[in-house]
Amino acid sequence: MSAIEAMHLSVRLGDRMALEDISFQVDEGEFVAVLGPNGAGKTTLVKIFLGLIFPSQGVARIFGDSVNRLSPEWLGYVPQVKTLDRHFPALAMELVGSGLRRCWPGWMSGEEKKTVIAALARVGAEHLAERALGRLSGGELQRVYLARGLIHRPRFILLDEPATGVDVAGQQDMYRILEDYRKETQATILMVTHDWGAAFHHATRAMLLNRRLISMGRPSEALEDEFLRCAFGHVGHAHEMRMVRHD
Ligand SMILES: Nc1ncnc2c1ncn2[C@@H]1O[C@H](COP(=O)(O)OP(=O)(O)OP(=O)(O)O)[C@@H](O)[C@H]1O
Ligand SMILES: [Mg+2]
Repeated sequence: MSAIEAMHLSVRLGDRMALEDISFQVDEGEFVAVLGPNGAGKTTLVKIFLGLIFPSQGVARIFGDSVNRLSPEWLGYVPQVKTLDRHFPALAMELVGSGLRRCWPGWMSGEEKKTVIAALARVGAEHLAERALGRLSGGELQRVYLARGLIHRPRFILLDEPATGVDVAGQQDMYRILEDYRKETQATILMVTHDWGAAFHHATRAMLLNRRLISMGRPSEALEDEFLRCAFGHVGHAHEMRMVRHD
């Protein structure tokens, strides 16, 4: 059984197709990087697996079950950091606690606090527990989101551009935490990224999207020049890719 699977998935948003006839399978323990230009449907794909939007056609499955609105507890989600309003008056531990209950925790029991602190400790951010969100750096905030995403020890983790706005050291920390977690638990990871280097160095497979599935395979194969040209319409990115590949 595949960890996640899409079969002839199409999604209409407003008057246009965001995704069209997407089919793929991902095995347990894989780390798949999803790449493609702005508006390619990457976030739409994430939302499908979160159960937030429904396909117009086709089906998405997680561990054999159709995705429904109530995403299972063992699904971890890490959003784009830049979407957070930094003035939101909350502490880091409250953000992590919101992952525990799927709602904002006005009050946490002693047991819940312990779980939250343990989750922060796992990503090396225990010391940030009482820090206001507005006083965290981009990299620190990323760790807090990661602690939130991993709090239920998920078997499947969805990340939507988790590295945006995080410096190189912060990104490396995040990828190391994800890699360690994947090795330890055989979790499956689907990560949307604009970072070619991350796809090459950390993903077991890459998927190139532009409304349709352009390619999927080992990063060196899926991100070949011809596929990049097809997805992005020009070869500028192919040049960047050659620099990442050092060829
Ligand atoms: N709620 C909506 N209603 C109508 N169209 C939408 C809606 N949400 C997204 N779209 C459109 O669907 C397409 C795919 O959007 P999506 O957010 O999935 O792209 P993306 O690949 O994540 O892009 P980016 O790299 O900019 O994050 C875009 O053309 C977008 O304008
Ligand atoms: Mg997006």
